[in-house]
Amino acid sequence: MNSEKIEIFDTTLRDGEQVPGCKLNTEQKLIIAERLDKLGIDVIEAGFPVSSPGDFHSVSEISKLVKNAKVCGLTRANKKDIEIAAEALKYAKRPRIHTGIGTSDSHIKYKFNSTREDIIERAIDAVKYAKSFVEDVEFYAEDAGRTDNEFLARVCEAVIKAGATVLNIPDTTGYCLPEEYGQKIKYLKENVRGIEKAILSCHCHNDLGLATANSIAGAINGARQIECTINGLGERAGNTALEEVVMILRQHKDLNLHTNVNSKMLNTMSSLVSDLMGMPVQPNKAIIGANAFAHSSGIHQDGVIKNRETYEIMNPEDVGVNESSIILTARSGRSALAYRFKHIGFDVTKNELDFLYGEFLKVADGKKEVDNDDLTLMMTALTRKI
Ligand code: KIV
Ligand code: ZN
Repeated sequence: MNSEKIEIFDTTLRDGEQVPGCKLNTEQKLIIAERLDKLGIDVIEAGFPVSSPGDFHSVSEISKLVKNAKVCGLTRANKKDIEIAAEALKYAKRPRIHTGIGTSDSHIKYKFNSTREDIIERAIDAVKYAKSFVEDVEFYAEDAGRTDNEFLARVCEAVIKAGATVLNIPDTTGYCLPEEYGQKIKYLKENVRGIEKAILSCHCHNDLGLATANSIAGAINGARQIECTINGLGERAGNTALEEVVMILRQHKDLNLHTNVNSKMLNTMSSLVSDLMGMPVQPNKAIIGANAFAHSSGIHQDGVIKNRETYEIMNPEDVGVNESSIILTARSGRSALAYRFKHIGFDVTKNELDFLYGEFLKVADGKKEVDNDDLTLMMTALTRKI
């Protein structure tokens, strides 16, 4: 079976930038956008142009700069937002307007004080209006995760008729379980008339730590675009992490799904975004955390030194990390110690290792991590002993 492509829609510069303290200026956004384009992203959501003159300017400058990816601007379902987004995107080679409205009962009642019929009308009008400016219109049904499937299908059908090319099914509040979100996508695939004219997109938030799992469940059930951010940044607990989606699809060839992202750039991309946003990456973050390829317990270290496949399911080089690391702690064993001595140029014999291991344990019990300076001191002690 031929592998099918999943379009990667990056929203680091829009949903990611909504994180408190992560505001970027235009120059910083341009640096990130250029790198995202090189990374092989299909769609870059550059911002929400109506939200501020600064955001408008950034979207406009990104539109001029980006060579390959589609450039997308977010709007609410009203004329002013759409006109301003169209203006900001006018220099883009491949512009997309991303418009939409809340569809869950809670959004309809509390946000809009409205009715389901009115929401469908507003959705249709917004898509038609956006379509008068650009060919590529993505519609988001905000809070689709908590919208009942029958009504969601009616909304999808109506906006496809109005010209939407992509249907975004956001789990805005990160509430769904993977099985449930996957079934939602399957339901829409099977019940929306005209669905073959549009692609379904996953946009999952991470409030319960399920964003990536939900997005993958969506893709398995027929979605062909995943919306995500570098380092999983985004509102509250964040969005689906781009690096996780890319590596899951790369490692699980059995899914017959792939992306065009150059995974070898993931590590530097992550550092760039973290540095510019001033948002550190947690060390145990999957794929790009500092400990993602670090082994510190003796049993694991011994296995990895014999053959890295024992405890590694990915090659660190595939995500742009030179090599996995063997961290020396009080839990490390002789083979890790010998390995690290070799790494700094000392090939020790079995007898020497016995002595050095005793010295090592004395140091390791008093420290979180034993470093190369400690190893050099141990070698000096060994030389004195001889
Ligand atoms: O989470 C969400 O629903 C969104 C939409 C605006 C696409 O970010
Ligand atoms: Zn979102």
